[in-house]
Amino acid sequence: MTNSSQNSQSFTEETSPSQPRLKVIKLSKGITENFKNAIKKFNVQSIEYKPFLRFHIANTLNELTHNKLGSLLLDNLHNRSTGAILLECEGASDEDTKSEDFIDFNILLSTAVSHLIGMPNLDSMSGKFYARFSVKNDDNSDSYLRQAHRRMELHNDGTYVQEKTDWVLMQKIIESNVEGGESLLLHLDDWTDLQKFYEHPLAKENLQWGSPSSKNVDYKTTHPIFLDEDENGKPMMSYIDQFVEPKNMEQGLYLYELGESLENDSATYSVKLNEGSMLIINNYFWLHGRDKFTANKNLHRELLRQRGVFN
Ligand SMILES: [Fe+2]
Repeated sequence: MTNSSQNSQSFTEETSPSQPRLKVIKLSKGITENFKNAIKKFNVQSIEYKPFLRFHIANTLNELTHNKLGSLLLDNLHNRSTGAILLECEGASDEDTKSEDFIDFNILLSTAVSHLIGMPNLDSMSGKFYARFSVKNDDNSDSYLRQAHRRMELHNDGTYVQEKTDWVLMQKIIESNVEGGESLLLHLDDWTDLQKFYEHPLAKENLQWGSPSSKNVDYKTTHPIFLDEDENGKPMMSYIDQFVEPKNMEQGLYLYELGESLENDSATYSVKLNEGSMLIINNYFWLHGRDKFTANKNLHRELLRQRGVFN
């Protein structure tokens, strides 16, 4: 473990004990409190209405960490061998998480973090730079995003939009009566069958991508499963099972086998997020998903996501 400074206003960075590619960054109670005080004159509406405030609060957080947090986040996200961060606040008490302000504070915190990494894309589902959504026991929506009873298969985000989606930030704000539903992660280089699908004749063939009406994206896009390689010549992937639209048997079977391979890979691991914590991943060399929940009629979870580009 390394400390960002010797005084009490620090954050810690360590490698996850169960997963060497995942960095765990923990903001100290001191930093969290100082950040809370420094931004108390702003609220969610103010950062929605005034985009420059998002950069101001990001800079405020960075300054509190002696300008170390931003570069640490970026270094990890660009580093092919890591590229995934679990960011937590130290010692949030039960009282904190039950308060009304907790939701607002967490929206401000994840906004500060996203603007240290780059620029969030407009989320067409919410019409904002972030989207909040609930997962409940019963759901009638048109994709698997909110459905608790089933596993959400491994995928990349942003497959059906024209914008680049370099990173994804997934924050858990509150949850109650939840058992299961952990985040699932698979690093592309750990996928046993990567070479089989990357060297396949269809790996670089343009496929069509669309989305259901709830996503509010009224066009279709085309791109291959494997995008242009990264600066080290390594594969980058853009895949999701629900929104790719195969045009013939060959494409359909390639996609089917690829999906089966991903779902059965033993290198996938699960991460439990505490309330207020967030996962940030490089979207082009990490796949993510969500495990199913144990049925409970009072199950409730509030999540927030941001997706965007590096500056
Ligand atoms: Fe996703």
